[in-house]
Amino acid sequence: METAKLSLQGKDYELPVIVGSEGEVGIDVTKLRGSSGAITVDPGYGNTGSCLSSITFINGEKGILQYRGYPIEEIANKLRFVEVCYLLIYGHLPNNLELEDFHHKLTHHSLIHEDMKKFFEGIPPEAHPMAVLSAMFSSLSAYYPDTGNGEDVDLNIIRLLAKAKTIAAFSYKKSIGQPYVYPRNDLSYPGDFLHMMYAVPAEPYLVSDVLEKALNMLLILHADHEQNCSTSTVRMVGSSQANVFASMAAGVAALWGPLHGGANQQVISMLQKIHDDGGDYKKYVAMAKDKNSDFRLMGFGHRVYKNFDPRAQILKKQSDKVLTELGITDPMLDIAKNLEQVALEDDYFVERKLYPNVDFYSGILYRAMGIPTQMFTVMFALGRLPGWISQWKEMRSDPKGRIYRPRQIYTGETKRPVVPLEKR
Ligand code: ACO
Repeated sequence: METAKLSLQGKDYELPVIVGSEGEVGIDVTKLRGSSGAITVDPGYGNTGSCLSSITFINGEKGILQYRGYPIEEIANKLRFVEVCYLLIYGHLPNNLELEDFHHKLTHHSLIHEDMKKFFEGIPPEAHPMAVLSAMFSSLSAYYPDTGNGEDVDLNIIRLLAKAKTIAAFSYKKSIGQPYVYPRNDLSYPGDFLHMMYAVPAEPYLVSDVLEKALNMLLILHADHEQNCSTSTVRMVGSSQANVFASMAAGVAALWGPLHGGANQQVISMLQKIHDDGGDYKKYVAMAKDKNSDFRLMGFGHRVYKNFDPRAQILKKQSDKVLTELGITDPMLDIAKNLEQVALEDDYFVERKLYPNVDFYSGILYRAMGIPTQMFTVMFALGRLPGWISQWKEMRSDPKGRIYRPRQIYTGETKRPVVPLEKR
């Protein structure tokens, strides 16, 4: 077995090397502290592998993203979102029977307990839907407690996936003061979500094929992204053996931030600001480069992708197609494209390898689909849910799994006595 050598304070240590199935190399430091007393330091975990995982592979240099070995380009064009959920959670693509059974379970668990509607009643209409989603996910654990029985967990995973779209749509209906629309078992997962969002009692609602397909793709593109901030949060919380609902609620909270899933909402706000400011996008590129300004181009840059984000490329094409099909011309799309062009040719962005990420074009698509801006990050959460669940499940089924508990290097005061109040 290949090993890595470390020389530290006059002593040599041999560390095992782990090689992944796509040739990724990691140095195993789990025993380093025991043998040397030293730890590794990596703020922001940019160079730390927190787990071994067989779910998603990313090569950021080459712009590769694969779920369970299947390239994202193929998955996005050939599969339905529920197939991708199944693939991520159970490890293989479902056959006809498995898919039928899974779809049946997802539709028959999509109602939320009627009492839960009272929670929505207490929430102010202007509440951010991510706050509602996180609170409702957590509340599900009150209705479906985890008794530690594996079967409960499997059923709770289905419940969570099935009810997530109902909760998300209810939070929107609540915010605009319309009556809740109940789920329908004859619709696809994205189709049912659109129906619960847009149907009103006064008239029949026909799910648009264009919107359904676009949403299917958007959800798939968000479905997993290995150990990002929210997924690591889900694993961190789940590692204490917290139940699946509480762990997912934590994932929603982590996703909400503007540097992570919240960026899609920020992208549209930024494009709107540029538009309202006369469309001078070059001014905003200059601001993003100015070290005296804290302005960043939202939707640009990624911790892992250093050439292109394959999801952004798929979405750029999809945005053009959907807007054409819907007969919409959106000045935001033109501003986005101009901004991308200028940034891609600018030394500042080239040197730092800053490219549009998934959030750059997803906001334009959501906008074209009539999804309100505040709901964008909820859409991301809906898509990411199967990824969080599969990562949570993988972590919990690892017989060597331990509670996540990083170390630190302490830089504070050394030991000192407490001075009595009158002498301070
Ligand atoms: N605009 C301008 N400059 C940027 C941007 C940006 N969007 N992103 C990074 N930079 C610069 C930084 O100022 C830094 O410059 P310096 O080396 O001169 O100090 C350099 O590029 C490296 O940036 P870091 O913040 O160190 O990179 P990190 O990997 O920590 O952050 C992140 C990645 C958070 C995505 C960052 O690029 C960012 O803030 N982007 C905008 C927010 C966004 O779009 N988030 C969504 C990410 S995708 C997702 O979560 C789904």
